[in-house]
Amino acid sequence: MTITFRDDLKQLPPDQLYRLFHRVGWNDGAADSGMIAVFSRPFEGSSLVVSAWDGNQLVGTARVLTDGVVRAVLLDVAVDPAYQRCGIGQELATRCMSAYPDCEWAVQTDAAEGFYRRLGFTENPGIFLRRPSKWF
Ligand SMILES: CC(C)(COP(=O)(O)OP(=O)(O)OC[C@H]1O[C@@H](n2cnc3c(N)ncnc32)[C@H](O)[C@@H]1OP(=O)(O)O)[C@@H](O)C(=O)NCCC(=O)NCCS
Repeated sequence: MTITFRDDLKQLPPDQLYRLFHRVGWNDGAADSGMIAVFSRPFEGSSLVVSAWDGNQLVGTARVLTDGVVRAVLLDVAVDPAYQRCGIGQELATRCMSAYPDCEWAVQTDAAEGFYRRLGFTENPGIFLRRPSKWF
């Protein structure tokens, strides 16, 4: 298996992105074509997108929102289940963090705490407040 990592592509194919997110359990696979068409917009609006490819198949993603200096948020770290536990997720996240090495990094997770702890993240209780979006 040869995996290619790209950090020069923000316009990920929406259908592949939607499929990947479905495979990791982030959507129910029931969206219409209009919804799928806009699925890559958050990536296009991100500071940095790193993706993992097996040939032409999108098998992993990570994206960053940052001011470039002080603070950065790591988002949408996802690896297709058929490719998990091979180091792809760690590579995606490490490439993101290496691009902004001086920043404080934040991530929100419920299912992958151990994954992020291995990357140096520690719990930061009590400071996370939330205002819901249109989407969730
Ligand atoms: C979390 C996720 C991105 C990890 O990707 P991956 O490619 O399987 O991870 P890696 O193979 O790079 O694993 C790196 C290390 O983290 C560990 N790890 C991986 N997934 C883990 C998890 N869910 N919980 C705890 N540890 C985990 C691995 O065992 C490995 O440790 P090691 O180096 O000591 O062997 C992937 O499981 C995934 O896409 N999950 C569903 C979506 C999700 O929850 N993403 C997190 C967004 S908040």
